[in-house]
Amino acid sequence: MKFGHFDDSRREYVIETPKTPFPWINYLGSEDFFGLISNTAGGYNFYKDARMRRITRFRYNNIPVDDGGRYYYIKDGETVWNPGYKPVKTDLDSYECRHGMGYTTFTSSKNGLTAQLLAFVPLGYKGEINRLTLENNSTEEKTVSVFSLREWCLWDASDDMLNFQRNFSTGQVEVENGVVYHKTEYRERRNHYAFYSVNRPVDGFDTQLEDFLGMYNGFDRPDVVFTGESKNTIADGWQPCASHKNVITLKPGEKQSLIYILGYCELPEAEKWEALHVINKKPAKAMIEQFATCEQVDAAMDALRKNWDRLLSLYNVEIKDEKTARMVNIWNPYQCMVTFNMSRSASYFESGVGRGLGFRDSSQDLLGFVHQIPERAKERILDIAATQFRDGGCYHQYQPLTKKGNNDIGGGFNDDPLWLIAGTAAYIKETGDFSILDEATPYDCNPNDTGSLLEHLSASFNHVVDNKGPHGLPLIGRADWNDCMNLNCHSTTPGESFQTFGTADGRVAESVLIAGMFVAIGPELVELYTRKGMNDKAAAAQKEIDAMRETILTHGYDGEWFLRAYDAFGAKIGSKECDEGKIFIESQGYCVMAGIGVEDGRALKALNSVRDILECEHGIVLQQPAYQTYHSNLGECTSYPPGYKENAGIFCHNNPWIMIAETVIGRGGRAFDLYKKIAPAYREEISDLHRNEPYVYSQMIAGKDASRMGEAKNSWLTGTAAWNFVAISQAILGMKPGYDGLTVDPCIPASWDEYTVTRMFRGAKYVIHITNPKGVEKGIASITVDGTAISGNVIPVYPEGTTHAVEVVMG
Ligand code: GLC
Ligand code: GLC
Repeated sequence: MKFGHFDDSRREYVIETPKTPFPWINYLGSEDFFGLISNTAGGYNFYKDARMRRITRFRYNNIPVDDGGRYYYIKDGETVWNPGYKPVKTDLDSYECRHGMGYTTFTSSKNGLTAQLLAFVPLGYKGEINRLTLENNSTEEKTVSVFSLREWCLWDASDDMLNFQRNFSTGQVEVENGVVYHKTEYRERRNHYAFYSVNRPVDGFDTQLEDFLGMYNGFDRPDVVFTGESKNTIADGWQPCASHKNVITLKPGEKQSLIYILGYCELPEAEKWEALHVINKKPAKAMIEQFATCEQVDAAMDALRKNWDRLLSLYNVEIKDEKTARMVNIWNPYQCMVTFNMSRSASYFESGVGRGLGFRDSSQDLLGFVHQIPERAKERILDIAATQFRDGGCYHQYQPLTKKGNNDIGGGFNDDPLWLIAGTAAYIKETGDFSILDEATPYDCNPNDTGSLLEHLSASFNHVVDNKGPHGLPLIGRADWNDCMNLNCHSTTPGESFQTFGTADGRVAESVLIAGMFVAIGPELVELYTRKGMNDKAAAAQKEIDAMRETILTHGYDGEWFLRAYDAFGAKIGSKECDEGKIFIESQGYCVMAGIGVEDGRALKALNSVRDILECEHGIVLQQPAYQTYHSNLGECTSYPPGYKENAGIFCHNNPWIMIAETVIGRGGRAFDLYKKIAPAYREEISDLHRNEPYVYSQMIAGKDASRMGEAKNSWLTGTAAWNFVAISQAILGMKPGYDGLTVDPCIPASWDEYTVTRMFRGAKYVIHITNPKGVEKGIASITVDGTAISGNVIPVYPEGTTHAVEVVMG
């Protein structure tokens, strides 16, 4: 069952009912100022950091789940309604929500009045614009009152929800000409405030939530709205909010727009005040002037659209399968951008207070984003690398506002260092910019202790070399990619964090996944050394890689598949000898991606085992059989009920590892079947089961051991976005950026006869038409570029601004 449809020509998902199975959200903003917006206009805003600079409030564990947001109450006679249906939930005569690229619109109607609400963050602007357009479609003149409502968060989202004894006394606002300024803590150490404005004189306002709502009411029954009278309150502690009242009269057929701005301003210390207790409103006024008229709003929307036109033109496929096209051309790259911006911080599943940016997460997110805005990828790489220690280890997470590593979680996740090599290599291949390797980059965020980025990458590599266990495999530390396989934790007390309890320094527990990553990613460093003329280092690193490959074949293969790990007692994990957790997905994916066992059939066997044991109709589960009881030697993965999350859920992130692995052994049909199983557009028809947004990937789909098999959780912020983009754009459709050019190497279903990829690469445009007359899955018979045959399958780098027609015949 569906709850909407794709409108590909406008790049929108059109939601046809407010009652989706879970809030279906979108993101506004892609630079510094962000908003989350649901299909009932719920959500919140923040500046740069969802925890430390939260602008509007969001209530966690709320009932109903999505309460609070950008609310506009329309009082038309005795009827009160909202364009987004919530919070009053008056039945609407029509409702439509369109989530697009960086904007959302609602078009709803009630009793002959149509409301259109447009929400977006203009490029380069530190604020969210909401334009509410009312149109009288009745035959009578109408006079309605519009009440807006936003609720302020007292900046630190974590403190905001816990420290009431203080917060109830600190909240402060100013109101001038109907603009509400939120200035809590501005009089002491903060140099920033927020404001909420509307572009016409107000007929009333409120800033004290308790008075606006009435002490015992919710958002669905505000006193002020239902009595029709603003109270003109000035908040004094308690819960500050911002509401305007505007009375609008519309002749039949007449249309009028109100433009609301939620903005953020920072001031230099010396310019903070106009007078005692009066904040300097100049920057806010300048921002308000920027969007005083509909023409200004339209122009900013146009610029936003053009920006996405450009971003989405960088990789484009024309293919018969429209679902693949809409994923590749629209929604997957869009999600990659959002995930790159947010890492795992703020969604309807991530509170924004728990985590900043993850080291491994951001490094992997880069893989799907780097072609969009390489300069931002570069900045991110250097920020991440600055949280690395001299020994190659690194902070697992850091806060975007301070760019400092998080001490709460610390380091010791031994896969982290290798992802930095993967991310950097992807950046250089995309851009050809080797100079990044020479950037002086701090260790442990200490500007006085730096090394070149290349030295950081060496440290990453050596961290594996220097930390091997009894079998010569890499020590796992606190965990590898699977955050919930905590082999050195041994926790038996409720509440202890699996990620930080126990030691990071266990010298026995080993990871076959990290070993596979080392063999897959290590060669990138060898290549970089070679290109830098550091041949001794290259040779030494290659030796380590070759040795690890042997070690995996000797101690990391279990007859039919790759082992997953050895625990702290030296016992096998992911082996046929185990009762539960006999086979895991991660090591099958990475070891085959590394090419291990490809010649002798062990890779093939491993992938067939994945197919036979781990795959189901909704994707590939993480492991089998699921753990039925808690095992303290394995940690958090055994804490989840069977079928969920890291205990045999379909953890979508590493499904594409198997897709890519399938292309390594040449099975394009298999790779694409796996792609279709988890790609949201293919799951749209089962939205009632899937429940999350059908336009973006979710982190997890409940696996075959779960009673709710097929149900998704944790949509939006997941490495799934980047990896699926890599799988489809590079491994399957076959456009692989390389150091010296674009390698064309498709691995597709035999039934595909042709498709065209238009890809920008280093400023030149490659229009690559692929035909498959013999119906093969892999292999190239010939390539011509601009009519001339080339040998091999690497299309060279061309001057910026040129366009090249590439004809590829498979066979
Ligand atoms: C979460 C984490 C990620 C981890 C994954 C598997 O998505 O953000 O870092 O790799 O879970 O445990
Ligand atoms: C939980 C999640 C896992 C995540 C970890 C770190 O354990 O299951 O996916 O990576 O938290 O936040």
